[in-house]
Amino acid sequence: MTQPSLPPEELTPSDLAQGKAYTAPGITVYYNVRRCVHVANCIRGLPQVFDTAQRPWIQPWQAPAERVAAVVRTCPTGALHYALETGEAETPAVPTTVHPIPDGPLAVSGNLSIQTPGSEVRDVRAALCRCGASGNKPFCDGTHRKIGWKSGAGETT
Ligand code: SF4
Ligand code: FES
Repeated sequence: MTQPSLPPEELTPSDLAQGKAYTAPGITVYYNVRRCVHVANCIRGLPQVFDTAQRPWIQPWQAPAERVAAVVRTCPTGALHYALETGEAETPAVPTTVHPIPDGPLAVSGNLSIQTPGSEVRDVRAALCRCGASGNKPFCDGTHRKIGWKSGAGETT
């Protein structure tokens, strides 16, 4: 059996260019709707940039590029990524952390190599399904909420 190759140390900006692009001077924001579970960290963090009432709903030109990047990094699911004009990629968390979201997915941060049915996905943030009902496994797609899945007693954060 072939051993899986170890991921390279460095993630590149192109690893993280996933989804639809929204470009402004200094930054491009990428949004993958299939990995958004509507936690709304983005909307709370910068409502002038992330606003579902406007079109397009992401307007990165409404704030400084570094501020937009900082809010993108608060997206726990990896639905949002960015590429800065400087070419600097997002730094993965060290050590890798796995955080169970009560009644929801496992939020994972770090230098990630995720095997999906179609390919290997490199990432720095991801929400992994643990209800078993996602239509986009191994990622969470929000189905846990629709089916009322509960993670059980003992999870407080
Ligand atoms: S999952 Fe990410 S993109 Fe979706 S609402 Fe939450 S913070 Fe925003
Ligand atoms: S945990 Fe979210 S779809 Fe399974």
